[in-house]
Amino acid sequence: MAQFVPADPFDLVIFGGTGDLSQRKLLPALFHRDRDGQFSDGSRIFAVSRGGMAQEEFIGLVRQALARKLHADEFDGATWQRFSRRLFHYRLDVTTADGWDGLGAALKQEPDHIRVFYLATLPSLYGASAGNLARAGLIDSRSRIVLEKPIGADYASARAINDDVCRVFHESQVYRIDHYLGKETVQNLAALRFANSLFEPLWRHAAVDHVQITVAEDLGTGNRAGFYERTGALRDMVQNHMLQLLCLVAMEPPLSLDHEELRNEKIKVLKALRPITPDTVKQVTVRGQYVAGAVGGELVKGYREELEQDGPSDTETFVAIKAEIDNWRWADTPFYLRTGKRLPRKASEIVLQFRPVAHSIFPEDSGDLVPNRLVIRLQPNEGVQLGIVTKEPGPGSFRLRSLPLNLSFTETYPLRYPDAYERLLMEVLRGNPALFMHREEVERAWQWIDGIIESWRDRRMKTQDYVAGTWGPTDSVRLLDRDGREWRNPSEE
Ligand SMILES: NC(=O)c1ccc[n+]([C@@H]2O[C@H](COP(=O)([O-])OP(=O)(O)OC[C@H]3O[C@@H](n4cnc5c(N)ncnc54)[C@H](OP(=O)(O)O)[C@@H]3O)[C@@H](O)[C@H]2O)c1
Repeated sequence: MAQFVPADPFDLVIFGGTGDLSQRKLLPALFHRDRDGQFSDGSRIFAVSRGGMAQEEFIGLVRQALARKLHADEFDGATWQRFSRRLFHYRLDVTTADGWDGLGAALKQEPDHIRVFYLATLPSLYGASAGNLARAGLIDSRSRIVLEKPIGADYASARAINDDVCRVFHESQVYRIDHYLGKETVQNLAALRFANSLFEPLWRHAAVDHVQITVAEDLGTGNRAGFYERTGALRDMVQNHMLQLLCLVAMEPPLSLDHEELRNEKIKVLKALRPITPDTVKQVTVRGQYVAGAVGGELVKGYREELEQDGPSDTETFVAIKAEIDNWRWADTPFYLRTGKRLPRKASEIVLQFRPVAHSIFPEDSGDLVPNRLVIRLQPNEGVQLGIVTKEPGPGSFRLRSLPLNLSFTETYPLRYPDAYERLLMEVLRGNPALFMHREEVERAWQWIDGIIESWRDRRMKTQDYVAGTWGPTDSVRLLDRDGREWRNPSEE
């Protein structure tokens, strides 16, 4: 049974509280938590933006956002009455030192409330926001600041943001979001690895041939093409989500779930990632960009058409990487990462491909002696599947067949799966940083990514076209084929 423990009274200030992230994710997540009784009386939510807006107008905006996001049975009038009384809008430009008096006075009315400042604005504003919060005297030892991704666009800019923020907040007060860490199934990875004695002896190079991590999206860049053009799949997905997944799969067992233990183990993995250099980049990475095709039976435009750009664009909408972790546990067990837009379906999964049996005692015509494979499905149909080789029943010679042992979380637990932001917001309010990234994690991840970007530039490595609705460019298949391996494409079931 889920347990709902209320958070201590808080004031949550969302800078960028009228923006897309706030309206689509943060405010609906907060509504759900309020509905489950997790907010104490008097807790308040302040939305800050430059645009002027009367209080009633802001309440109406949130009401519309909830109507768009929630199912009819998730909305109830009593919760809305309570929730809407918590909401306040303040007009303020976070980059200027003026105009903080109104927000400051409101916060100072409740000195005992925990103060959380959530920066849902452009990352280039994070430093100025932190500085102005300090100048306005709004930070105390119990205050927390939440930074949305992306934290910078490379190592240097990430470091500059972290330096600016950490000048006024202690590292223990900084919560860097990677919303993947709040996903139920990503949390389940810890349960799978560390609550089952079965896997740990096998979770290493001696038993695991290789690991695949796929994060596939069926959507294109749509009206975000302008933003995407400056970012690309490597920065948008690999630097944060995929490297976090890799760390959770590859890390040594931490002593406990304590945040310092966890992040120390993740940092060790990032330190052990073999740098990708101009000499290796063509062998171990693939860049792709989708052209027009069909996804789910529907004709869709290519990336350049969505971008509405006449000239060429070389931003990757697909990337595949063979990552090597130079440590005892994973020597010679590569981690193949792949992510892209306009792939055949939306699916995220982690595959541990085990090595073949050491020696076959079966005649050659016995059928499938395929190595075992553990598939951890993060979405959709969250669950775990283990391929087991069995004997087909019946008389005659031995006929082997690999069958899936299938555990579906959604069938076993037919509950509403809370959005990752619900968990993450509650963890911030409770002051538990285990699901957030330390600055060293972010900066080390950027250092590895910078090496790839510089090598691409050095070798003038261009994107390859792939047709929307396929699993990426042909070089992605070759990346594994060269090693005698192949991708497992997430199936529709
Ligand atoms: N949208 C998503 O799904 C998503 C997902 C992951 C991460 N993120 C990250 O979250 C952040 C916000 O993204 P978004 O999509 O919500 O952007 P957005 O829709 O453009 O919203 C930006 C918000 O910030 C406010 N703002 C901008 N400049 C400001 C200033 N100087 N002072 C005070 N408020 C200011 C805007 O209101 P005014 O213009 O009225 O000031 C608006 O409320 C970005 O860092 C983004 O990368 C977004």
